[in-house]
Amino acid sequence: MSRETRPARPADPGRTRLDSYVDRYASRTKGMTASEIRALFSVASRPEVVSLAGGMPNISGLPLDVVGDAIGELVAEHGTVAMQYGSGQGDPVLREQICDVMRLEGIDAHPDDVVVTVGSQQAVDLVTRIFCDPGDVVICEAPSYVGALGVFRAYECDVVHVEMDEHGLVPEALRQALETCRAAGRRIKFVYTIPNYHNPAGVTLSADRRTEILEICRAHDVLVLEDNPYGLLGFDGEPLRAMRADEAEGVIYLGSFSKTFAPGFRVGWVLAPHAVREKLVLAQESATLCPPAFSQMAVSAYLTKHDWLGQIKAFREMYRERRDAMVEALDDMMPAAARWNVPGGGFYVWVTLPPGLDAKAMLPRAVTARVAYVPGTAFFADGFGAQSMRLSYCYPTPERIREGVRRLTGVIEDELDLRETFGATTHGVTRGYESPNTDLS
Ligand SMILES: Cc1ncc(COP(=O)(O)O)c(C=O)c1O
Repeated sequence: MSRETRPARPADPGRTRLDSYVDRYASRTKGMTASEIRALFSVASRPEVVSLAGGMPNISGLPLDVVGDAIGELVAEHGTVAMQYGSGQGDPVLREQICDVMRLEGIDAHPDDVVVTVGSQQAVDLVTRIFCDPGDVVICEAPSYVGALGVFRAYECDVVHVEMDEHGLVPEALRQALETCRAAGRRIKFVYTIPNYHNPAGVTLSADRRTEILEICRAHDVLVLEDNPYGLLGFDGEPLRAMRADEAEGVIYLGSFSKTFAPGFRVGWVLAPHAVREKLVLAQESATLCPPAFSQMAVSAYLTKHDWLGQIKAFREMYRERRDAMVEALDDMMPAAARWNVPGGGFYVWVTLPPGLDAKAMLPRAVTARVAYVPGTAFFADGFGAQSMRLSYCYPTPERIREGVRRLTGVIEDELDLRETFGATTHGVTRGYESPNTDLS
C-alpha cells in the first residue's frame, strides 16, 4: 500500500496519546506493562556500569569450536531435516536425551511425556494457557520469577504470594493460603515453585519440605508447577532430587538448556502427566506449529558429541567463584543492617536493605554511581519488596563484582546518611502479606 492510500490513524480529539490503538487491545493486554526499570537498563548496559542486574548465563566458557563443528556437520549431513518443520511435540532423539538429563535428579520419565518448548519461558506460557482462566489463582513464592509473573498477568490470573525463608517455601504458609483461597471460593490452578537456587531469592527448598509440600498439594488437589532451570548448577554435592521424581501425576516439571548450555538456542521442555502432555502439544502447535527443529538438533548434537556433564562442572566452578566474590564483597563492605543469603548454586543473591531504604527509589542514584541491580518489587505481583534487591553474580568477573558491590555500598551509605540528616527519605511499601518474610538470610 502506498503512503497516499494508507488510512489515517484513528482520530483522538482532545487527548494526546502515545498509543492511539489503546481502545482496540484485548483486555488481557492491560496486564502487559513495561517495567519502569526497563529504561534504566538501557543505561545499565553501558560498559562503565557494573551490572549486577541481568541473569545472563556466562557462556564465554563454552567450546565454541566444538559447537561450530557440530552445527556445520548438522547442516552438511541433516540440513534438509534440520531446516524443515518438525513435530509439535519436539524431536524424538532430543526427548530421549532430555530424559537422560532428568535422570540426574531422580526422574524416571518416558520421552512420550516430554514436550519441547522455546525455552522454559514458553513452557510456563503453555501450561498457563491450558490451565488458567481469567481470575484463577496461581500460588507463587514471595518473591517469584519475574518472567513467570508476566505470563500469569498476561493470562489475567490472580497471583497469591506465599512466604519463603532460608529453606524455601514455608509449608504451613502454603497450607493457610490454600485454605484461605478455598474458603473464599477461589479456583486455584497450581503452585508455581522454583525449588533449586531460586530466582530471585537464591534459596533451595529442603528435602523435608519437598515431601511436605507435595502432601499438602495432593490433599488440596492442586498441581505443582516445578520450574527447574538451575537444578544442575549446585556448588556442593550431587543434584537434589526433583519433586517430580516422587510424584508423577501431581507435578508438571519444566527444564531448560539455557543455563547448562546456551540460552540462544531457546530450548526448554515440559514433562507432564500423559493427558496434560496431549493438551500441551495442541497448545504448542497453535503457538508455533513446532519448536525449531534446527535448535533442537543442534542441542542434541552437542549432547551427543561433547562432554556436556564436564561442561556443566566447569560452569559450576565458574559460578561458585563468582558467588564467593560477591558474598565476600558483601561481607566486607555492606552496612551492618543489610542482610543477604549465601546461595548454594545458581546465579542470585537476595539482599534486604537496612530498614526504611527503598531499592526502587534508589536505583537511578545507583545507576548514576555506575552499578545496577533489580529492585525487589519486580518479583512481586503486588508492589511488595521495595526494601530488597536481586544481585546477579553470573556474568561479571570477580573483580567487577567486587567493584560493583563497592559502588552499591557507597550508594546505600549515602542513602543512610540522608535519612539520618533529613529523616525518612523513602517510603517502603507496607501492603502485602500478613507476615511478610523477605529477609531470607
Ligand atoms: C526460574 C526461571 N524460569 C524460567 C526461565 C526462562 O528460561 P529459558 O526460557 O531461557 O529457558 C528463567 C530464566 O532466567 C528462570 O530464571
